[in-house]
Amino acid sequence: MKIAFSLILLFGFFYLTPLIVFSQEITSDFSDLVPFVTTPDEVVEAMLKLAEIDENDILYDLGSGDGRIPIAAAKLFGANAIGVEIDAALVALAKQNALKSGVSDRVTFVQGDLFEIDFSDATILVVYLFPDINLKLRPKFLKMKPGTRIVSHRFDMGDWKPEKTERIVLPDGKEHLIYLWRVPQ
Ligand SMILES: C[S@@+](CC[C@H](N)C(=O)[O-])C[C@H]1O[C@@H](n2cnc3c(N)ncnc32)[C@H](O)[C@@H]1O
Repeated sequence: MKIAFSLILLFGFFYLTPLIVFSQEITSDFSDLVPFVTTPDEVVEAMLKLAEIDENDILYDLGSGDGRIPIAAAKLFGANAIGVEIDAALVALAKQNALKSGVSDRVTFVQGDLFEIDFSDATILVVYLFPDINLKLRPKFLKMKPGTRIVSHRFDMGDWKPEKTERIVLPDGKEHLIYLWRVPQ
């Protein structure tokens, strides 16, 4: 009986410890939230054009990853842009990328939770999140200034019908859907 108990303990130590350590590694990089997946540059540009962005706009990217969308908004269209990102390492990378692109004066990256951040001064909101998160954010979006444009990569907003939908097929054959809504009066 004692030997069987010792064997179970030994088995537990050698086989379960790596599993526990591995699962801790997975959660420590925020992958339990929406994972970091980038929007291809061609799709970024199409999203910004869909929103009819110009230099008077204030764009927020909720979950900004490496910063490519706020950076493109500033670099290609002269807009002011803010990226909100929960992962500090990605915020640091986005700041470096903005510096390299010469747009640090018009782009800001904030480390924080998109559910807690105040983005009420936005004229354009960009999201590449999950459908359930879009739906959770929808009541907040609907309280934004009338006319505020919201653009989503890949996922829609349930029964809130988009004003426009665009399908982009990249040279690699991959298809990307983008959506535009406008906050009503
Ligand atoms: C699918 S990626 C999109 C990145 C970028 N917007 C793009 O389209 O290339 C989603 C990003 O949201 C970030 N994220 C997930 N949950 C978040 C939260 N609660 N607050 C802020 N950022 C979050 C992730 O770290 C990830 O970088």
